Amino acid sequence: MKIIAIYSSKGGVGKTATAVNLSYSCARSGRKTLLCDIDPQGAAGYYYRIKPKESFNRKLFLKGDLAPFIRGTDFENLDLLPAHFSFRNLDIALDGQGRSTNELKRIFAGLKDEYDVLILDCPPNMTLLSENIIMAADLIVTPVIPTTLSILSFAQLIKLADKLEVKRKKLVAFFSMVDKRKNMHTDTILKFGKKKMFLVSEIPYLADVEKMGIYRQPVAASAPSSSAAIAYEQLWLEVWRRGM
Ligand SMILES: Nc1ncnc2c1ncn2[C@@H]1O[C@H](COP(=O)(O)OP(=O)(O)OP(=O)(O)O)[C@@H](O)[C@H]1O
Ligand SMILES: [Mg+2]
Repeated sequence: MKIIAIYSSKGGVGKTATAVNLSYSCARSGRKTLLCDIDPQGAAGYYYRIKPKESFNRKLFLKGDLAPFIRGTDFENLDLLPAHFSFRNLDIALDGQGRSTNELKRIFAGLKDEYDVLILDCPPNMTLLSENIIMAADLIVTPVIPTTLSILSFAQLIKLADKLEVKRKKLVAFFSMVDKRKNMHTDTILKFGKKKMFLVSEIPYLADVEKMGIYRQPVAASAPSSSAAIAYEQLWLEVWRRGM
């Protein structure tokens, strides 16, 4: 089982939109896929119209007792583990468990015979939970809005990965919410886009992505021939080639 984390310490860069759409493409490619939402905002579950069971909580998650709380989606090969509100304190709980950076890896190990790919929708943090995410993932995919602060947060991720002695090959970024009418966007892409860590695929700023909040489906399900659906499919193919 490959673990792909959609992670950035920066909020609102398109992590959830990416996790939702890539998990759909992954499942469509025939791989048994689990989208695991570890952000207490629960947005990935919202997009797939799935709420966590009342009986689920952070303690059970940390015990690795996940199977009873995994739900099927409307789509073949795609299951979802919705986030629980109590996940907002995951960091404090991890801190109380000896500050280990390998807890997430242990928690997900129990799923390895069930799924080909586990995609993680991560909260915007740079904490002990982030360190666990970096250690557990085979590939960390970071959406970067082509602006200064978004680039800065990717640089900070590289620094954290170096501190954890994780291979840089594990980290990839792509430009998210790209608006080519903005000079800042075109200049930033020109400057950083050629770096090896940046994927060629970009996700433009598109209304169809925002509309996922209305249709509550991946774009490829509600608008299969849209530019947004095509862009996410290309991103998925490149992520898969890079990571595996
Ligand atoms: N390519 C895009 N084009 C237009 N809107 C987008 C795009 N990607 C994301 N959005 C919108 O931007 C907002 C933030 O996106 P999203 O929730 O995916 O970011 P996030 O990084 O997961 O945020 P958070 O850090 O809060 O979890 C949402 O309203 C989403 O619909
Ligand atoms: Mg999110």
